[in-house]
Amino acid sequence: MNNYPHQAWYIACTSQELKQNTPIQRTINHIPLVIFRSQNHQIIAFLDKCPHRHIPLSSGYIHNQHLVCPYHGWEFDNHGICQQQPGNICYQNQPKHNLTKYPAIELYHHIWIYLTPEITPPTAPYQLPHINQPGFSTFYWKMTSQATLENIAENFLDATHTHFVHRGLIRKPQKRQEVTVKITRSQQFVEAIYLGEQQISGLIYQILAPGCHQVTSIGRFILPSIAQLEYQTNRPDYRLFISLILTPIKDNLTQGYIFVTFRWGLPNWLGKLIARPLFILAAQQDQKILNLQASNMQQFPPQNFVITEIDIIKPHIDYLLKSSLNPSPTPNHHLDINWEKTIKIML
Ligand code: FES
Ligand SMILES: [Fe+2]
Repeated sequence: MNNYPHQAWYIACTSQELKQNTPIQRTINHIPLVIFRSQNHQIIAFLDKCPHRHIPLSSGYIHNQHLVCPYHGWEFDNHGICQQQPGNICYQNQPKHNLTKYPAIELYHHIWIYLTPEITPPTAPYQLPHINQPGFSTFYWKMTSQATLENIAENFLDATHTHFVHRGLIRKPQKRQEVTVKITRSQQFVEAIYLGEQQISGLIYQILAPGCHQVTSIGRFILPSIAQLEYQTNRPDYRLFISLILTPIKDNLTQGYIFVTFRWGLPNWLGKLIARPLFILAAQQDQKILNLQASNMQQFPPQNFVITEIDIIKPHIDYLLKSSLNPSPTPNHHLDINWEKTIKIML
C-alpha cells in the first residue's frame, strides 16, 4: 500500500462538486471522508464512518444542521459531536460518541483537506504563483489516472517523453537541441532548470508563443504532491505556469487537478480558448501512457526501473517522499539534502 504524508493539504474536490447540505464521499490516501457545505457556508469534513455500526455518513443526509446517519438516525453537529441517538432516553447523561474532524477550506475554487484530524494546520495550502494577479488568467480541469502519485509527477516533469508521447504537439523528435539542465534539491522540493533551448518545436508553443525564443523551462516537484512547469522566454510579458496538484486516492488511483496560469501576447480570453483544448489533449496523451504503465507494472512487480543520467527528476521525487514520511532517512552520499548538479542533454 502506498502511503503519503498526512501533515499536508490535499484537494478533495472542486467547489462545484460540493453543494450546500449534500454530503459527498471523497477518499484521500486510503482515508474515506464525508464532506459537505453547511448552512452557513462552512466546509465540514469528517472521517466517513458512523461510530455506531460504521455506516458511511456520506450516505446520510443533513437535517436541522445535523449530519444524520441513515441506519439508526444518530445526529452529529458541525463539530462532529453526537447530539441525538433516537430512542435512547438516557443519552444526554451518557458518554458521547463523536466523529473525527479534519480541517477543510475552500481556495482557488477547490476544497482542500488537511489530512491530520483534530488540529489547527501549521501551514496554508500551496500558494499558486500569480493566481488572481492582474494581467494573469487561470483555467483548470481535473483528471483521474490509474497510476501512482510519483509516476504521474515524474511523467509531468519529464521532458524526454514529450518528443514521443506528444509528438508534434509539444516537441518534434527530429529537432533536438543541446541544453544545460541545472538540478537543485532542498528539503521540500526539487527543481530542474532547462537552459539554452532556442525554441520549443511543437504546435502548442508555435500557436501560443509565436516568435518567442531563448526558452527557459523549469520543472519542480514540491512536497507532498505538486508538480509544476514554468516557462520563460526572451519576452518578459510571456509567462506560463502549469501546476498539477495530485491527490492520492488509493493504490494506483490518483486524482490530478491541473491549474494553468498564464500571461502572453494574446488577449487572455483568446489564449484560454486556444490553449485549453491543446493542453487537455496533451494531458490525455499522458493519461494513456500512464495507464499502460500502471497495468503492466501489475504484471511485473516489484518495481525496479532503470534510472539513467537523463531521468532527472524521478530519484528525487522518490527521495523527497520517502524522507517526508521518515524525517531522518539513512544518509546517502548521492542523495543528501541540498543537492545540486548540472548536466547536458539533447532535448
Ligand atoms: S450505524 Fe449509524 S446510527 Fe447506527
Ligand atoms: Fe507528457
